[in-house]
Amino acid sequence: MLQANFDQLIVAHGYVNQPVAPGLDLIQEINRLKKEKNAVILGHYYITGELQDISDFLGDSLALAQAAQKTEADLIVFVGVHFMGETAKILNPNKKVVVPDMNAGCSLASSAPADAFQAFKDQHPNHKVISYINCSAEIKALSDVIVTSSNAMKIVESFPKDQPLIFAPDKNLGNYINSVTGREMVLWDGACMVHEKYSLEKIVALMDEHPKAIFIAHPECEKQVLLVADFIGSTTALLNYVAQSDKKEFIVATESGILHQMQKSCPDKTFIPAPSIDSTCGCNDCSFMKLNTIQKLYLALKYERPEIILDPVILEKAKLPILRMLELS
Ligand code: 13P
Ligand code: SF4
Repeated sequence: MLQANFDQLIVAHGYVNQPVAPGLDLIQEINRLKKEKNAVILGHYYITGELQDISDFLGDSLALAQAAQKTEADLIVFVGVHFMGETAKILNPNKKVVVPDMNAGCSLASSAPADAFQAFKDQHPNHKVISYINCSAEIKALSDVIVTSSNAMKIVESFPKDQPLIFAPDKNLGNYINSVTGREMVLWDGACMVHEKYSLEKIVALMDEHPKAIFIAHPECEKQVLLVADFIGSTTALLNYVAQSDKKEFIVATESGILHQMQKSCPDKTFIPAPSIDSTCGCNDCSFMKLNTIQKLYLALKYERPEIILDPVILEKAKLPILRMLELS
């Protein structure tokens, strides 16, 4: 009861809504609080450059899950989106996991509600369920194994060829894996609102304008975009690719936050964000990832709120397929 009152006072609208003293050096305070509380900040490549630079560990979804599994911190502050915080909590049921803003969801994760997914599963008996990590804890609990874009191909191929498979919730990643492996996985009809907005027409026009540029894309992009890509990979794979390439110019089809790391590791190279269908909006930004701000991060660390809390039964069920993934990675 006391806890509920505290939360109502501190957390409003899904994040800590408290005033911050004007002129307070937030970076300095975050660093001080981190030491004092033995906290770790885990950040995804899609958050702002400022937040990337203050993260203790920055990575793609797989590396972040691995970091969460290994951490010795008492408090985990996850700067990314909700399913990532949930994954960290599932791997650390006895630790406190907080996020700067509970509203930082994911269009892919919300495309698969648990009830509808259970019904879909029931329609496909004998199928094993492979779920992309961008899904809720409830969907993970209904899955046999979890994958990320880094290890999806390898994990799918670890199943016998004659094993019927469901792949959820990203139909684009599922389609891509089907096309490379020759499998016929049954796909859940979900997509990422950032990656499905790239305009093939505009990308091709940009490639004509920059004939020396290499076009790289995340596998969450639609099939027609992936077909013209020179390289397809997870955020980490894209980063490694540009760092190792002797080419100087790249057109990048994934969330714009990644450009910060690309530019940092390759200051002499040029990175052009791939154009979206609607050029008037910030379509290359994930509006969920961008809900994270330095002020919300500071407040989350200070008040240790909002906290990821999971039903213990769901947590236990969701843990198995994540551990299976980590073993296979
Ligand atoms: P990765 O970082 O695993 O490539 O995933 C991208 C993504 O969409 C995260 O939400
Ligand atoms: Fe979800 Fe797409 Fe945002 Fe990644 S970029 S968190 S898949 S909505």
